[in-house]
Amino acid sequence: SIVDPQLRAGYHFQPPKNWINDPNAPLYYKGWYHFFYQYNPKGAVWGNIVWAHSVSRDLINWMALEPAIEPSIPSDQYGCWSGSATILPDGTPVIMYTGVNRPDVNYQVQNVAYPRNRSDPLLREWVKPGYNPVIVPEGGINATQFRDPTTAWRAGGRWRLLIGGVAGGGTRGAAYVYRSRDFRRWARVRRPLHSAPTGMWECPDFYPVGADGRRAGLETSALAGPRVKHVLKNSLDLRRYDYYTVGTYDRRAERYVPDDPAGDERRLRYDYGNFYASKTFYDPAKRRRILWGWANESDTTADDVAKGWAGIQAIPRTVWLDPSGKQLLQWPIEEVEALRGKSATLKDRVIKPGQHLEVTGLQTAQADVEVSFEVPSLAGAEPLDPALANDAERLCGARGAPVEGGVGPFGLWVLASADRQERTAVFFRVFRAAAGSDGKPVVLMCTDPTKSSLNPNLYKPTFAGFVDTDISNGKISLRSLIDRSVVESFGAGGKTCILSRVYPSLAIGKNARLYAFNNGKADVKVSRLTAWEMRKPLMNGA
Ligand code: FRU
Repeated sequence: SIVDPQLRAGYHFQPPKNWINDPNAPLYYKGWYHFFYQYNPKGAVWGNIVWAHSVSRDLINWMALEPAIEPSIPSDQYGCWSGSATILPDGTPVIMYTGVNRPDVNYQVQNVAYPRNRSDPLLREWVKPGYNPVIVPEGGINATQFRDPTTAWRAGGRWRLLIGGVAGGGTRGAAYVYRSRDFRRWARVRRPLHSAPTGMWECPDFYPVGADGRRAGLETSALAGPRVKHVLKNSLDLRRYDYYTVGTYDRRAERYVPDDPAGDERRLRYDYGNFYASKTFYDPAKRRRILWGWANESDTTADDVAKGWAGIQAIPRTVWLDPSGKQLLQWPIEEVEALRGKSATLKDRVIKPGQHLEVTGLQTAQADVEVSFEVPSLAGAEPLDPALANDAERLCGARGAPVEGGVGPFGLWVLASADRQERTAVFFRVFRAAAGSDGKPVVLMCTDPTKSSLNPNLYKPTFAGFVDTDISNGKISLRSLIDRSVVESFGAGGKTCILSRVYPSLAIGKNARLYAFNNGKADVKVSRLTAWEMRKPLMNGA
């Protein structure tokens, strides 16, 4: 098929061309945000991986620099894979990343790199000391599944960091702990920080969060204590999604225990859509923890090659612990609001069963929408099929946007054509509390892209997650960042998030429309809906 260039994202991070994957080593230095990422300088498919480098004052407008790290030494000559930055006590950032040092198998070692010139706020040149690699797989570690070092944290004069890998003969994901006094000589702690029967863990991330509902972030080395919890995130190579647990870090034992003993099975996710290999960093300028995540394309590889580009980064999100302590909350960084232009607002509009209303007067192919819904009565909520009660994705697959419900489905149709033949539904559906549960109605959030395009060759997975919110007052909010082929949604103030890639064939540019819809049997009120057109930021010179 011919890919319309208007489907290229407008304000999500992207280089002018070629393939991108994982975010690497996000950091703040002398007034600049630095962002590195896995990049193929030669094409729109994975390969020839280097660390591309961009800088920004606001995490929204980006300037591309020369690649920071490219294969150049024996221990990275077949690839410079993912890694992280640590700010040393004197303020110098150091990067540790995975190098591939053999052509035949993906044998993985870890290297460090330092800025050549610390007075350059743009950190343009990175030097790899001659003593690399600093960590090699030893003691029976599987060398082909040993990568993606985290940001290090320091306590008692010693650095610690995690490296993703496997244990149990490959069946268990494992986060190995390495310790060092000088960032050069590293020793492995015998037992991993944590492991679970999930298959390989890529791109671990481990950081403290405030346990008292405060939104402020904590520096990675912040001391463990009663008011601090830790988050461990891993990227599941086999399933291609990121999940996390909230728990307690015991520094002496060098072990981490999730609060929820079933956390490694239940698998809370930052995002129930297309979002992988994510990584956080602490932003000292605004005292917040920021999450970056990669969203791949979901059209065909042939289309990626024809377009000449593949992959974006999600809008950076501020993350903090929900006051319940059970999950994280996420919200797009406030800076993205500077892109808001022309807007339209609707207030107190009731949508009857089977009806919809259109948001007119602005273009919505590149937009930000915030909406508050109110359901006057939850009495008609449909019962929850116990067989699907633990599987949001299957539940949403069985009860998609066109399937009439009791309370809901209600939500937004985004990137919709005028005849609504094409539309991506982002919506909620409320179910009666399951027998034997806490009695709270169950809220499901879905993105249903099955009608997003007339193009028949697309991968159009339905994405869904439960929303752990008390909807007994009937209220729930939704925000969607719409960006041509991106729909990035935040349910209930950031409790459940879903990023989806869609490739309309009609709902492109000026032809993309926005609606609120109700396909349930109960009335739904839009208490307030505001949509803004989004301007295009400076994006790496594209
Ligand atoms: C995750 C990943 C990492 C690896 C990198 C290579 O997407 O497979 O584990 O370091 O990509 O590009």
